[in-house]
Amino acid sequence: MRTVRTVAALREALAPHRAAGQRIGLVPTMGALHEGHLSLVRAARADSDVVVVSVFVNPTQFDDPNDLAAYPRTEAADVALAAAAGADLVFAPEPAELYPRGYATTVAVTGPLAESLEGAQRGRAHFDGVATVVTKLLLAVAPDAAWFGAKDAQQVVVVRRVVADLGIPVRIEVGPTVRDADGLAMSSRNVRLGPADRTRALALSRALRAVQDALGGGADVPAARDAGLTELATEGIDPEYLALVDPDTLEPAEPGRPVLVLVAARVGPVRLIDTVTVTPDAPGAL
Ligand code: PAF
Repeated sequence: MRTVRTVAALREALAPHRAAGQRIGLVPTMGALHEGHLSLVRAARADSDVVVVSVFVNPTQFDDPNDLAAYPRTEAADVALAAAAGADLVFAPEPAELYPRGYATTVAVTGPLAESLEGAQRGRAHFDGVATVVTKLLLAVAPDAAWFGAKDAQQVVVVRRVVADLGIPVRIEVGPTVRDADGLAMSSRNVRLGPADRTRALALSRALRAVQDALGGGADVPAARDAGLTELATEGIDPEYLALVDPDTLEPAEPGRPVLVLVAARVGPVRLIDTVTVTPDAPGAL
């Protein structure tokens, strides 16, 4: 297991594997690895000959400088966890490696895919930052496949769009959301929740469950959404959004089609997101 900090060193380390026709898998992360990331590393391990984990807190996707400053940075632990989960290489560049002096190119995804929901709340620069850094990571590693977590559902839609539009030859794989035993979706930001806010945060997964149960019980979209809002209100949480949309287009959900349910809310000092997909034939999947 090696850690490399430059694109040149990364390419040099991967060259013999590529020359031998080995399959390369990439798990892009911003570090502070938890079980959600590690499940992606294990999935990549099972599918690939060489597994690269990138650890880079990407400044261009943060709309809030305080959030960027407070984002946990735990590289030594990340390297150990990635190795134990089966990674072969950690790519942990400094910001100047990916954004050198004079950097002036952005990959911008336009329209509702990037401008609704997270894009509307965090500003359109958020997904420009994600699209740009993911494109750069895919160019640097040139993997056969890259793994992303389902919890960042809109990010997955945006990344798929970028890959299709730019013709990047990579398979995008999505791993399921990993939850603590009480239902809280794992997130690197959870460490900043105090005990009381951590308990309040459970209302997000309960709200998704309420929406899911309502849809499963035959409720229409507005009634199902109301069920979720009621659950959030039990903890005094007024979400930034609770949306029921089409999983591919992010357009309003339609009867008879899978429904992507997304919620974002501030709980104490932390902004949390969570999501579930409800399919007409398997309504109880959370
Ligand atoms: O999901 C994340 O951790 C980040 O958005 C990603 C994909 C690593 C890009 O910085």
